[in-house]
Amino acid sequence: RITPVILCGGSGTRLWPLSRQGHPKQYLTLAGQQSLLQQTALRFADPAVFGKPVVVANVEQRFLLAEQLRCAGIEPAAIILEPAGRNTAPALAAAAWYLREHDPDAVMLAAPSDHHIDDAPGFQQLVAQAAPLAGNGAVLTFGIQPTRPETGYGYIGCGEALEGHTGVHRITGFREKPSPQDAAQLLAQGHHYWNSGIFLVGAQAYLAQLQLYAPQLHHGTGLAFQRSVADLDFIRLDTASWLAIEGDSIDYAIMEKTDQALLVKTGALGWSDVGSWEALSQISECDTDANTRIGNVVALASTNCYLRAESRLLATVGVDNLVVVETADAVLVADKARSQEVKAIVAQLTSEN
Ligand code: GDD
Ligand code: MG
Repeated sequence: RITPVILCGGSGTRLWPLSRQGHPKQYLTLAGQQSLLQQTALRFADPAVFGKPVVVANVEQRFLLAEQLRCAGIEPAAIILEPAGRNTAPALAAAAWYLREHDPDAVMLAAPSDHHIDDAPGFQQLVAQAAPLAGNGAVLTFGIQPTRPETGYGYIGCGEALEGHTGVHRITGFREKPSPQDAAQLLAQGHHYWNSGIFLVGAQAYLAQLQLYAPQLHHGTGLAFQRSVADLDFIRLDTASWLAIEGDSIDYAIMEKTDQALLVKTGALGWSDVGSWEALSQISECDTDANTRIGNVVALASTNCYLRAESRLLATVGVDNLVVVETADAVLVADKARSQEVKAIVAQLTSEN
């Protein structure tokens, strides 16, 4: 069985003003009835395929996290708490150290907590089929057919097919977050896939790769885990050793360097990383004028808008392609096509404080 490792410590600034430091994106109910985290945990909960999840999150959100898991009926194997975010490579390492003690042969499905997948059963089937390959020490990445020169993603070069495994390929290279020019070039070359950020890798194999390519991370995370303390249902990583770690992502620390990577093509599963208001509007329900209306919203002669009211009445007349998000202390009005730039607002607000 596969152990989902849910990475739950990011901040998701592009969904401001809803996503905040104290209440990041993965804990929000954005589309559907449950938060992205709850949807993620439920997506990987079929006991025929998955064991109990290991969740790695920031200490500040521990009660919110535990409560959301409880409400979704998810019983985690462990909740590992980070004193501060050190990006995804250390977070996954903490889970791997835990599993080394409790289930050393575990294959981890590293899962971002803030994604949307339309076809969850289809994805589960892909994972189950690919899992034996991860048992052999490979790092499997799930690739998405790219549609634009996105610079916020990793790009996987698709190499020769692996015999006997339909849709699994060796990789010719991995490039994390290329420049706009390089992204355009990779897209034009044609044989590149977006990295979904979802990985399948054995716990021991991951630690071995880390030791090889990022020995300081291997050492630092091992120390923080050895010195961790149990607190209620939580495992608290040791603060001093964790803070001494230099943060890095799985993509830079491992994927750009490893020769053990394999690409699993995902086909049309309806994957979205819900990276902007525009992306969210694409997976949300619309009215006949293609508006998403959430909360107390009146839209007259308005089209293609994402309209969300948290506490007050929101009304629009004669507008098109807008994002309007009303919260108690901030209102966002943006051109939907430029909703990526919301992170610049957050950057500006943070630098002013
Ligand atoms: N526990 C923990 N601690 N989780 C973290 C931390 C951390 O310090 N930092 C990020 N995460 C979680 C986030 O909450 C998210 O669910 C996931 O790890 C991925 O982190 P992001 O910060 O969202 O990464 P990204 O979107 O910039 O890039 C990754 O995802 C892309 C696809 O969405 C990369 O893997 C790219 O290559 C990929 O294309
Ligand atoms: Mg992301």
